[in-house]
Amino acid sequence: MTDISKVVVLGAGNIGGSLAQRLAEADLAREVVLVDIIEGLPQGKALDIQESAPILGFSTHVTGSTSLDALSGADVVIETAGLARKPGMSRSDLLSKNAAIVKAHAEAVRGYAPHAVVLVVTNPVDVMTHWFRSITEFPPARVFGESGTLDTARFRWFVADALGVASRDVTGFVLGSHGDTMVPVLSLTSVSGVPLTRLLPADRLAAIVERTKGGGGEIVSLLKSGSAYYAPTASQAELIRAIVHDEHRLLSASAHLDGEFGERDVYIGAPVVIGRHGVERVVEVELTPTERQAFSASVAAVRADLDLLSQLPA
Ligand code: LAC
Repeated sequence: MTDISKVVVLGAGNIGGSLAQRLAEADLAREVVLVDIIEGLPQGKALDIQESAPILGFSTHVTGSTSLDALSGADVVIETAGLARKPGMSRSDLLSKNAAIVKAHAEAVRGYAPHAVVLVVTNPVDVMTHWFRSITEFPPARVFGESGTLDTARFRWFVADALGVASRDVTGFVLGSHGDTMVPVLSLTSVSGVPLTRLLPADRLAAIVERTKGGGGEIVSLLKSGSAYYAPTASQAELIRAIVHDEHRLLSASAHLDGEFGERDVYIGAPVVIGRHGVERVVEVELTPTERQAFSASVAAVRADLDLLSQLPA
């Protein structure tokens, strides 16, 4: 059993609502609280999810609130609040608006839930995770971002679809930022242990890499309003499960680098081990020179956004 009793989801939009549902249906906490500023929205979604419990058989208690004091005593907090992309926008275009929302939430988490493990989802996620961590002053291990888990799921699906194999047999990593410069790492991808590079020719691999990099944008263009939430919340739930059940999963997430991959004081998608207390360690794997170069370029893109953040009015 788990010692996690309370999970708070900040933001009851498409992501927040879908995530609360996944957490409840998997009985990942005794209590899941949805929080949003729109009166009725978190309460309505929470009650709707709760009313499915008699059919689905979960025990999680789901409630909604418009007050940040609902964070009180949270063991795990997921920050989903903020604007989503519209067609043609990059995740970085959301920076200034979302920074203000994240700041208020990080201050509330610092006050109400000083021992929580925090998963940040709000875009641009690597920068928002950095921002959230710096405001809370929590140990970096306790604040991390969902990025590569989602991008890797998309990558795995595209590979599986191209090969006609079960997607769960495809393992790999998408590293770097959750943005246009993300790095699907072919050298670390295999199908039940068979290296991917032996299974598909270079031109098809290149097409899969490009589709993965534009994976979020592809959904935004199709939906025309709002961005993806089914695959994002599946990957968030995977990370929360790793915390709740102290699974020591080796996954890709936006983590604080302290010398790994030659980088310091930046949050970026890296292979990490996730357990009860958050990021247990960053696993520094060897990349090919081209992949390493692409990773450094991705770090540079995040640092450019961090510079923009530092120039925002306080
Ligand atoms: C995506 C958004 C949620 O990649 O960043 O779908």
